[in-house]
Amino acid sequence: MQILAGSASSSLARRVAERLDTEALIPEVRHFPDGELYVRVPEFKDDTVAIIQTTYPSEKLIELFLLQDALREMNVKKIITIVPYFGYSRQDKIFNVGEAMSARAMARHIEMGADMFIGIDLHAESILSWFTVPTEHLYATRPMAEWLRERDVNVVISPDKGGITRARYVAQKLGAEFDHLEKTRLSGEEVVIKPKHLDIQGKRVAIVDDIISTGGTIARASEQLREQGADKIYAICTHGLFIKNAVEKLTRSTDEFAATDTIEGEHSKITVAGVIAKALRKIEA
Ligand code: R5P
Repeated sequence: MQILAGSASSSLARRVAERLDTEALIPEVRHFPDGELYVRVPEFKDDTVAIIQTTYPSEKLIELFLLQDALREMNVKKIITIVPYFGYSRQDKIFNVGEAMSARAMARHIEMGADMFIGIDLHAESILSWFTVPTEHLYATRPMAEWLRERDVNVVISPDKGGITRARYVAQKLGAEFDHLEKTRLSGEEVVIKPKHLDIQGKRVAIVDDIISTGGTIARASEQLREQGADKIYAICTHGLFIKNAVEKLTRSTDEFAATDTIEGEHSKITVAGVIAKALRKIEA
């Protein structure tokens, strides 16, 4: 199996390849003068290729389509498309007539160039139901728990009820307690968290979420945890978008924060490479 590194996930793809004792294929990706993309995949001999490419920002999605097309043209028999962070996943319902179900639209287009799809901590499990090719959903809970274990965390908190399963899995791996807060979103950038008593006096607490975008959720959750006497507050997420002044908010409100490398950047300190490599080994076996 070959690992093909999309430009949004080149470090992650290299880490996965290393774990599989191989080298990642690095395609040529450049822009034409009008801004359109050109890709060229180096020659290789194998029937199966796993492309690793986060589809954020939007141009990375176009790059993924071009890489899939190039592989088809090279007669690859099995294209496994791994999308570490699935862009547009948050609009997975139609709230008002005339809206697009963006997550479904992405799924339909991605599957046109894939024989198998693998997602990581997808915003909604339902995204998989829009694929007709085989799918697999991977979770970042193990590497997240390892990062938190080094910090002796004893309570794991989800900022909302929806994330309680993730918090529970992480807590179980740590042998820690877990709970959730009650978050209500007022707008894209504003959330309120209802006061709730938690037994965290003097404890080392981790807030675990799937996405950190503007950082508003973590900032509000941290305020509550500080008021209730938490000794240390750590914030981690799978997908760190860190929009606008998110980093400033997180620096102010937490003792330390980190994201995984599903979106690569300065704060992607936790790698999901082991999780992907394990899944690929199983597929190959
Ligand atoms: C929402 O459903 C997600 O799980 C995150 O809590 C949300 O995307 C975080 O956004 P922000 O950082 O802007 O509060």
